[in-house]
Amino acid sequence: MNLVQEGLALGIPAPGPDAHQRPSAARIYRMWFGVEGAVPADQDLARKILNAFPREPAAAKINRGHHLLITEALAARGISQFLDLGCGYPLPRPQGGGDLLFAQNTHDVAQQHWRSAAVVYADIDHDVVACRRTLLDSAPTASRPTAVLADVTDTARLLARLEADGHLTRERPVAVLLHDVLPWIPDDARVQDAASHLRTWLPPGSALSITHATPDFSPTWVKRVQDVYDEEGIAFRPRDRQSISNLFGDWADLYGGPVRMVPTARHQTTHQFSAVPDYVSAAYAAVAVKHPTS
Ligand SMILES: C[S@@+](CC[C@H](N)C(=O)[O-])C[C@H]1O[C@@H](n2cnc3c(N)ncnc32)[C@H](O)[C@@H]1O
Repeated sequence: MNLVQEGLALGIPAPGPDAHQRPSAARIYRMWFGVEGAVPADQDLARKILNAFPREPAAAKINRGHHLLITEALAARGISQFLDLGCGYPLPRPQGGGDLLFAQNTHDVAQQHWRSAAVVYADIDHDVVACRRTLLDSAPTASRPTAVLADVTDTARLLARLEADGHLTRERPVAVLLHDVLPWIPDDARVQDAASHLRTWLPPGSALSITHATPDFSPTWVKRVQDVYDEEGIAFRPRDRQSISNLFGDWADLYGGPVRMVPTARHQTTHQFSAVPDYVSAAYAAVAVKHPTS
């Protein structure tokens, strides 16, 4: 079955013939890391976003830096299964120097702790999944991660499939990484349902890590970015602290107590951008764990 057929079987439509004439938020995110390959429509929209919020590339790097740090922290706590939901494109190694940090993938970090850590990459974008698969083809077979097409709002089907295919087991904790993906799903009820289903399905000791754009630190900048996406017909829905906090239900913070909602750059004290003002993060990060009685 090819990727288009895989998608259709999951209710994910095939990309239209104009997929490369229309801007893509996933490709634009990749542009902030200096990756080439953006189409003219991406470049136009990226220019408008930079006009609206010049710190957008820094916000993306803060998000990605956090992704790697929290993967490391969760692996160090003993978690050896990772589901990277809305994983986005892999970021290639910069040519002729540059920051190698961002070229790391979830499995590169997790497998430094657990050589056979199970890592599943999932995304709704066919091109993202195709790129992930191409990259993973060269990974050693024993610990080769999986890349699947999936819609976050259909987590029930995704989790059932991953368990049936032996990619994830409920016999050990799983870390689910939902980093900068939920703002691209405007329907609040579907986002809450997806989080609720994940919380129910995941075994005790599992972790849920979310980063999510918010207007809380800089309503004007964030509204400007939202308006730019709106004009292009791309739904972008930053949420406030309470709405994001609700996604964790009754789970406890990774470090104990109620779940802490922290500007992304400051969630991990070792983050290379931890000193920037909160409006540059423009997002919250939070990580919660499932208690045995949750
Ligand atoms: C900004 S990228 C985030 C990449 C990565 N998680 C990170 O934090 O570096 C957002 C990704 O979410 C994906 N996405 C958007 N809506 C989705 C959905 N309903 N289900 C799965 N993936 C989705 C997009 O295709 C894109 O690759």
